[in-house]
Amino acid sequence: MVFNSTNKATQSFMQRLCSLLIIAVFISGCTGTRQIRSTTVSLKGTYKNDFLIGTAISRQQVAGKDPVAVKLIPRQFNTVTPENIMKAEELTSSWGKYDFSWADKFIDYARVNHLQVNGHTLIWHSQMPAYARHIQDVDSFRAFFTAHIRKVAGRYNGRVRSWDVVNEALNEDGTLRRTPFLNKLGGNYIADAFKLANEVAPNTDLYYNDYNNERPEKRAGCIAVIKKIQQAGVRIDGVGIQGHWHVGKVPFSDIEESILQYAALGIKVAITELDIEVLPRNFTGAEVSQRMKMDANSNPYVNSLPDTVQRQIADDYGKLFKIFLKHKDKISRVTFWGVHDGQSWLNDWPIPGRTNYPLLFDRNGNPKPAFYSVIAAKNK
Ligand code: XIL
Repeated sequence: MVFNSTNKATQSFMQRLCSLLIIAVFISGCTGTRQIRSTTVSLKGTYKNDFLIGTAISRQQVAGKDPVAVKLIPRQFNTVTPENIMKAEELTSSWGKYDFSWADKFIDYARVNHLQVNGHTLIWHSQMPAYARHIQDVDSFRAFFTAHIRKVAGRYNGRVRSWDVVNEALNEDGTLRRTPFLNKLGGNYIADAFKLANEVAPNTDLYYNDYNNERPEKRAGCIAVIKKIQQAGVRIDGVGIQGHWHVGKVPFSDIEESILQYAALGIKVAITELDIEVLPRNFTGAEVSQRMKMDANSNPYVNSLPDTVQRQIADDYGKLFKIFLKHKDKISRVTFWGVHDGQSWLNDWPIPGRTNYPLLFDRNGNPKPAFYSVIAAKNK
């Protein structure tokens, strides 16, 4: 009797346990679908025969302090760009003194994780060290310019696949920006920078990089810059279209036309800083010194992104990758400006402290509909 009743109790306990297990497996099967797919489907794998797929990475990520990114970077990407680590102000804070400790760690991180490297950036008017901005004397300024390129590009020769040699030298109307480089060195400074980079990094691809250079006016200026470099007999291998675009307003036909026109110059095209802004903005582009005032409507999606916007950004990304695929013979690389939404610079620019959703992975590292739409662009 005792045995029987114990047996019955055990049986019913086992039955309940089994049902619970079945329910648990079912639930985890449903909720885990995306998680499982995210570990097996990768951007770099999907596009392996087309172009490199990159991301910009931060110091925190190089240091392994962003667990979400630590998993995603080597799984999803095959090339990295330092978001800030190699900018002049990060490398040198006083004349002649350079601290390469983080840049070396970044290069090492890339090597260990089998990632190629795009160096960003040698000559740029933003994020310059204060001492260099304040040099008045032309000869001293040229000495800084020359030494900087030689030192940085020379140090990493052989370990960097491509450099953004000059960044953002153009105004929106296609004329040259009045930067300290133009003001002190004159209009040939861009070709000079490429010449110097070529001397110390002969096997590295050399790129000119800008935002809005898919727009007709700025594109014309960009083409003029590239032709001037070529006519000076100096090597230039490619042009970077940064790709800081806005949801529902991505200029698809300008982008396609630009890929064609740049490729016709005999150079490669890279999309170097791709993200799609979803928050209100009263200007386009990516001039880092530009700011906007916060108001009641500036940060509308603090808790989550509405489905309509989620679908629109997925749609935009899908269409973009269709264009990139159509011209894959002209495109060397597509790099996202950040790994996941939580890292994006667009949370803090042009207004600090907003909640933005411009990338393919959410703050927990889960793939968004936009991720699946980029994958589908290849498979459909
Ligand atoms: C941004 C970084 O993402 C930010 O962390 C930093 O505060 C400012 O610069 N164009 C470029 C990039 O070429 O270097 C900029 O990166 C974004 C615009």
